[in-house]
Amino acid sequence: MRAALAAATEDTVIYDLDGIGRQYAALRAELPDVAVRFAMKACPVDEVLDHLAGLGSGFDAASPQEIAQALRTGVAPELIHYGNTVKSDRNIAEAYRMGVRDFATDSLEDVAAITEHAPGSRVFCRVATTGEGALWGLSHKFGCSPEDALRVLGAARTAGLVPSGLSVHVGSQQMTAEAWTAAIDSLAAVLETLNWRGITPTRVNLGGGLPALGVLDRGGRPLEPPLDKMFTVIREGMERLRAVNAAPLEFLLEPGRHLVADHGAIRAHVARLTSRHQLDGTRADWLYLSCGKFNGLYEMDQLQYRLEFPTHPGGQFVNAVVAGPTCDSDDAYAQEDGPVRVPHAIASGDPVWIHSCGAYATAYATRGFNGFPPLPYTCIGGSGDRGAGA
Ligand SMILES: Cc1ncc(COP(=O)(O)O)c(C=O)c1O
Repeated sequence: MRAALAAATEDTVIYDLDGIGRQYAALRAELPDVAVRFAMKACPVDEVLDHLAGLGSGFDAASPQEIAQALRTGVAPELIHYGNTVKSDRNIAEAYRMGVRDFATDSLEDVAAITEHAPGSRVFCRVATTGEGALWGLSHKFGCSPEDALRVLGAARTAGLVPSGLSVHVGSQQMTAEAWTAAIDSLAAVLETLNWRGITPTRVNLGGGLPALGVLDRGGRPLEPPLDKMFTVIREGMERLRAVNAAPLEFLLEPGRHLVADHGAIRAHVARLTSRHQLDGTRADWLYLSCGKFNGLYEMDQLQYRLEFPTHPGGQFVNAVVAGPTCDSDDAYAQEDGPVRVPHAIASGDPVWIHSCGAYATAYATRGFNGFPPLPYTCIGGSGDRGAGA
């Protein structure tokens, strides 16, 4: 990755396919009994998807467009599920036409629509979590209460669908192992009651949420998620759920960020380092970069990426607020929290390397906010370095 960053003379996102492959292998080694459905939204880049498909991964898709992209990798439709609880009649019908038979759900209305447009399919009900402990809790928009999950899967069975399982998502960039403990407690209670009512699911989908390791919090301190403890809690939780359920259980995960975040980086450049008096009389230094929230660093308001200034390894530093190039004040690191050490002598045009930004970088890039286009990307590793994409 460092060699590719050093070789880049223009701004680009670089994905290290071998790094992503190693991350996938490490996850499979930690949780050998768990099938992986990569959450495409985290990195919908053909080369990345092809590489993961080649390693045996399936896909968590959230729209017919994502399903079509997943199918282009050559994976069988059985390895793709429609993991979005939000879908129109037309979305469901298209997914069904493309061969998908596994659908996430969390409401009776959605079950009725799946019954009509994807008859006989398997549904897994997403049980809500609090999202506590995550940088991005996904608690309100998705997932139903345990009581509703019983109603939803009961209705699915009555309608001739297969009530195949349950799912959770503990929130993205989850920082605590306790979030999985709470999710498993909730799943165990629902499974027990479902069994009692004669419904025996065969699958549990433990969602996404596994963290990136190389990012910093809003104040610039390393985020240090207890990954080993998370895996231990998940393994123990799987045993517990297996003990509760009358039928054997298969487990799935839908990791997004964890597989790609630390294996993507951006070569950007400095727009300008400035120093200005603010209204409160203090002086502040601002480092404006060629990329920001709208073209690669969407999550910059909640975390900091590690920056490296390869042409200025030493010398004098100033503490600057880092921001992107647009005329939008959201396009910046959280100003009150953590200024970044920036070489005083940095000049417009100097390269900047931005690490651990492989998750959600390309997917969230706007088409050209203020005229700044999405960055092109390059993939290295895999079966040989690939050319640039857009
Ligand atoms: C249904 C679903 N699965 C998986 C993910 C991936 O989450 P993460 O990137 O935290 O692993 C998301 C992210 O929003 C999601 O909505």
